[in-house]
Amino acid sequence: MSDKTFYATTPIFYVNAEPHIGHAYTTILVDVVTRYHRLKGDDTFFLTGTDEHGEKIQKAADAAGISPQAYTDQISSKFRSTWDDLGIRYDEFIRTTEERHKKTVNEILQTVYDKGDIIFGEYGGLYCIGCERYLTEKELVDGKCKDHDTVPEYRSEENYFFRMEKYRPWLIEYIEDNPDFIRPERYRNEVLGILREPIGDLSISRPKDRVPWGIPLPWDDNHVTYVWFDALINYYSALESQGTTERYWPAVNHFIAKDILKPHGVFWPTMLKSAGLPIYKHLNVHGYWQTDTGKMSKSKGNVVRPLDLKDKYGNDAFRYYLLKDMSFGLDSTFGELGLAERVNADLANDLGNLLNRTLGMLNKYFDSVVPESAEPTEADNELLTSFKALPADIDVFFEKLQFDRGIERIMESVRLSNRYIAETKPWELAKDESKKERLGTVLYNCVEALRCAAIALSPVIPDKSLELLAQLGLGDNYTIEGAGNWGLSYAGTKTQAGTPLFPRIDMDELRASVEADVATGDTNMSDETTAIATGEAVSAETEEVTGIVHKDEVTIDDFAKLEFRVAEIVACENHPKADKLLVLSVKLADEERTIVSGIREWYDAEDLVGKKVIIVANLKPVKLRGILSQGMIMAAEDADGNLAVSALDKDIASGSEVR
Ligand code: MSP
Repeated sequence: MSDKTFYATTPIFYVNAEPHIGHAYTTILVDVVTRYHRLKGDDTFFLTGTDEHGEKIQKAADAAGISPQAYTDQISSKFRSTWDDLGIRYDEFIRTTEERHKKTVNEILQTVYDKGDIIFGEYGGLYCIGCERYLTEKELVDGKCKDHDTVPEYRSEENYFFRMEKYRPWLIEYIEDNPDFIRPERYRNEVLGILREPIGDLSISRPKDRVPWGIPLPWDDNHVTYVWFDALINYYSALESQGTTERYWPAVNHFIAKDILKPHGVFWPTMLKSAGLPIYKHLNVHGYWQTDTGKMSKSKGNVVRPLDLKDKYGNDAFRYYLLKDMSFGLDSTFGELGLAERVNADLANDLGNLLNRTLGMLNKYFDSVVPESAEPTEADNELLTSFKALPADIDVFFEKLQFDRGIERIMESVRLSNRYIAETKPWELAKDESKKERLGTVLYNCVEALRCAAIALSPVIPDKSLELLAQLGLGDNYTIEGAGNWGLSYAGTKTQAGTPLFPRIDMDELRASVEADVATGDTNMSDETTAIATGEAVSAETEEVTGIVHKDEVTIDDFAKLEFRVAEIVACENHPKADKLLVLSVKLADEERTIVSGIREWYDAEDLVGKKVIIVANLKPVKLRGILSQGMIMAAEDADGNLAVSALDKDIASGSEVR
């Protein structure tokens, strides 16, 4: 296996609900990443699929009045067809109800059992069906599962257990020795936090007479296994069944959201270790897409359907927005107006204008044929340098999972190209016959800029990139190096303007329809979207520290509306898009939140980690330069401009209320 092997996975999705924008995000993200690696010439494999066993699937099938198999067939094919409609180029789609998968699960179970790592016992605890696992007291918020907002039920029954606790010291050491095993760092820290205390043994089976919808254990067919011990193995069974295990394992990059960090960061590596299999390479964890009504769920009726957006805005516009408007690892708020503004600004304006102007001028001055280029002059240098560095720069950002910044880097070159046109003024050159050669060079450079930008953007907007290249008279045979190899366009190539790649979205019309939805309450828009619709500004100013200002007196009841809590800062980094902001990851007991704070002028990111501060915990979340901030850190600033964050004079548990 060489460094040029790249195997990427999405979670396998539960078939108890239809695909929504959250599932689509991870799948589109992995599609972008694998397209990028194919473009680099890597031996690439992309796996997705569906997770079909377990109690909640059985319940959903019962509710639909059909057999679990018929039910899972139906929803699994819905996932597959959604991915096909969204242009996802997965190499393999695995279902946990397939024989090939069950075979590998049986083999791994038997190995772990023979090793003495599976024991039989009675267990009582709080079980969440949504998570399909027992929760610890520490994982509850107000007695409820924080991910599903449901009260877990107490259960006691005889189960088989995987002796996970035994592997805790090994896993801590492994994570410490491999700093980029779980990334970004905030999630690595979270897993290390979980591992600081005993993790217990993992219940892996249910009595078959209670939950028949699972895989019978090879040594006891009165019990079945499902969900985590079954599901995680999909990443391996898909290779086994194809005979590609040697080729791709363990060069695997798992992509998941933060909701399933514990199974992937704790259960899965210990399972692999016990089974004597090599440990996967990277666990890449992204944040959540939210709406203003919080987490998306069927019961809240705020589910955003990916195909609706694709139908309305086109696949590539939708993909571009998702990748550009989420900083990997942090939460983001979905909003249709935000999507439209992003598409208009970057794609219709910056990229679309460059194409239209270039093809228009080629048509006018060179009969739509790419002209010869003379030697570049001083005036061309900035443009050429920017594009020549593009592949290496994108690679750095993509390797660091900073997809939004990688795309921004490409758009910087695109915007530079528009400035190049404004500065070189081809329309002036065209007035003077003696400047024809220079005019040709300028337009040749514009064609090259477009060719390079189209290649660089092709993992994100694959169809429109091809259309763009076709308008330049080029085909689809390119590699990522081609995005930096200046001079590959041939003089004499016939160009052909087509329909606009990204037609401008009429914002007035969209705003009006959003306002109508706000008025009727029929909306699943974000705060940001609502604010844009009503003309309010949402900006970093929201959290600016203003010093002491005496305000009107408030009653104790007014004051009681505010919730102040102790928060421990567990990670901190600079905001990727704002010089004055820090992005902090804070813990309130077991709850983790992101807070964007304007204190970067006074604190370096690393100085804050480990501090306990006081935060306002019930501020309405707001997006600050693209990152969702879920609270505000209290800080004091004096007249000389010194600033200090709030502190406590004794160690107090994080999450404690400040009164
Ligand atoms: N079946 C398990 C995973 C087993 S993997 C061995 C499962 N399924 S799920 O259908 O609930 O999918 C969870 C995943 O869907 C998340 O980890 C993420 O990839 C995606 N998302 C679901 N909602 C999301 C958001 N609101 N935002 C971003 N991604 C989200 O858990």
